[in-house]
Amino acid sequence: MKGIILAGGKGTRLYPMTKSVSKQLLPLYDKPMIYYPLSVLLLAEIKEILIISTPNDINDYKKLLGDGSNIGVKFTYAIQEKPKGLADAFIIGEKFIGKDDVCLILGDNIFYGSNLSEILANAKKNKGATIFACTVKDPKSFGVIELDKDRNIVSIEEKPQNPKSNLAIPGLYFYDNTVIEKAKHVKPSPRGEIEITAINEAYLKENNLNVSMMGRGIAWLDTGTPQNLLKAAEFVEAIQSRQGYYISCIEEIAWRKKFITNEKLKEIGEQLKMTDYGKYLLSLLEEE
Ligand code: TTP
Repeated sequence: MKGIILAGGKGTRLYPMTKSVSKQLLPLYDKPMIYYPLSVLLLAEIKEILIISTPNDINDYKKLLGDGSNIGVKFTYAIQEKPKGLADAFIIGEKFIGKDDVCLILGDNIFYGSNLSEILANAKKNKGATIFACTVKDPKSFGVIELDKDRNIVSIEEKPQNPKSNLAIPGLYFYDNTVIEKAKHVKPSPRGEIEITAINEAYLKENNLNVSMMGRGIAWLDTGTPQNLLKAAEFVEAIQSRQGYYISCIEEIAWRKKFITNEKLKEIGEQLKMTDYGKYLLSLLEEE
């Protein structure tokens, strides 16, 4: 399975912070925001990852992440000329995806929780498509999913005025290879975007759309507004300083998944040892 991180967009709700810096490069407490979605793909053991961003910003991502060999994975980069919508990821990524299945994650979505690895492993095994459902207080600004009492999907609506449930669809999607063809057939919505909801509806029509619940054990945070960004940073800080475990430390995950050796982790830790981040990496080796 291939992975795509969509890290373009305009980030208008975060202006002026994002006037000259891509949203997904902004710090979320102690790491660049993109580390968080990247860590989800690593947890899912996806090692071939396409990073999509704007013509202006793509080089900054290359500078930050390189070719991936440092953490035992392979990064490829592509440009999205205009923020045409989430479904555009599969058109831009057609060659990269090839004949494989694909997981898309939005660059500003943060997931954290105890059984996340298991949820991801199960989604990877499903046929067709798998989306997720998270309970939120105010679902109006998300895709909203309506389920019957047997948890079958009744409807999906994009940013509804009158939501039929409080189950929002987060920015993480698993699709089989037919997603490429489906994306090509999506017509722009009234707001001018090719919507991921249209793809999900196509899978639903084929009876091929699975939904996996992310319950109370999983925190899903988005970072689109200044207040959400601050709240997410406070969440990360609180967990890390209380438990001592880092959230979304990509080198740690790569090491635990055995993408990199002890020696490599030590090398990266030594380079950063003037920081708490580097000290944390080195402390992991003492666990052994
Ligand atoms: P949004 O938050 O919907 O858009 P945005 O990031 O441009 O922010 P704003 O609404 O404040 O202007 O995008 C969700 C994520 O998807 C975000 O990480 C950016 C990314 N994205 C793209 O990379 N390309 C796109 O065409 C769209 C629509 C979003």
